[in-house]
Amino acid sequence: MRVLGIESSCDETGVALWESQAGLLGHRIYSQTAIHARYGGVVPELASRDHIRRVAPLTEALLGELDTSWSEIDGVTVTAGPGLVGSLLVGLSVAKAIAFARCLPFLGVHHLEGHLLAPALEFEGRVDQAVPEPFVALLVSGGHTLLARVSGVGRYRVLGQTLDDAAGEAFDKTAKLLGLGFPGGPAVAQWAVHGDPSAYPLPRPMVDRPNLDFSFSGLKTAVLNYAKQAGSAQETAVLRSSKTLPDTWGPYTGEANPLHKGLTDRFRSDLCASFQEAVAETLWFKSLRALRETGLYRLVVSGGVGANRYLRSFFETHAATAGYSVCFPSPEFCTDNAAMIAFAGGQRLLAGERHGLDLSARARWPLEELSQLDEPRLLGD
Ligand code: KG4
Ligand code: ZN
Repeated sequence: MRVLGIESSCDETGVALWESQAGLLGHRIYSQTAIHARYGGVVPELASRDHIRRVAPLTEALLGELDTSWSEIDGVTVTAGPGLVGSLLVGLSVAKAIAFARCLPFLGVHHLEGHLLAPALEFEGRVDQAVPEPFVALLVSGGHTLLARVSGVGRYRVLGQTLDDAAGEAFDKTAKLLGLGFPGGPAVAQWAVHGDPSAYPLPRPMVDRPNLDFSFSGLKTAVLNYAKQAGSAQETAVLRSSKTLPDTWGPYTGEANPLHKGLTDRFRSDLCASFQEAVAETLWFKSLRALRETGLYRLVVSGGVGANRYLRSFFETHAATAGYSVCFPSPEFCTDNAAMIAFAGGQRLLAGERHGLDLSARARWPLEELSQLDEPRLLGD
């Protein structure tokens, strides 16, 4: 079965072609970073307008590159949620139009299910070569941070999740506070390369709580406090007189933001390195607890923050020491892409699942709603 996948849940337009025997045939991604950078964050209206411009040409380019005709496609899958509703609607409308015009099976995919199953992509859809099930998944993206027990397609038990900011969001807000640009994760990672991770003692939120939940908003406040201290007395006074935090100041103004003046490159590097280590250590602490509590020994890390090189090596080192195995999708499949949507949707299409063309986009869609199957279905079956 040859499956077209479309992803447009946030600020990346993705298309992919996945085949049940051969695995991923190809995928393309168009990032809107340049459009949103001047605002310091994703502007939903601009995101959906750009998806409209990109999705059809991108699909045609992919099919051309793979020398595939429309008649060779056997099914259409698309991210149906969670995400920005205007952006989701663009991908959904195009996917429905293709399915209707070609009379193809159609399926709306849960974006997080795509992330959870992404590691399987690199093994031609046969996850058992790398990640035998069941496993613990740590999903760390811009909108979500959660730990889940994964025992098959649609078999997810959420073990814990963030109570406020997601880990990626904390990276983005930290970058904004320090005037590092957008998207924040890669910028913080870049600045951290030459920084000292022990320079600033930052909290490891919630590690003293006996659960598997996370909280990252306090970490952002701690970063803000260090930035305030590092700024000049005059600039700090400006900040104190402001009733709002810098990340609510509207259009991104870079160095014009009073908080950013007076911050040295050394300070930025050291604070980024300290922040990155605090996030990595907190995520590892809870992941290790999840492994111990579930009795499983394989951890899969997915989502945009999983592309962070420091986090990857931190997890690999600590997992090896503790006797666990950790697996990451390659960075291109950690961040948003349509390959994971074509794969996850393809698994469900193969099992005979279909959606009607009246399927709605869902801005919110709890992962738990997917876990309603009685019998586990193994990936690739
Ligand atoms: O999974 P993703 O592409 O989109 C969502 O579903 O949210 O994740 C995007 C998030 C952003 O917050 C971005 O800053 C973060 O992943 N990110 C990173 C890195 N690359 C992307 N965070 C830390 N280090 C990175 N290298
Ligand atoms: Zn994502």
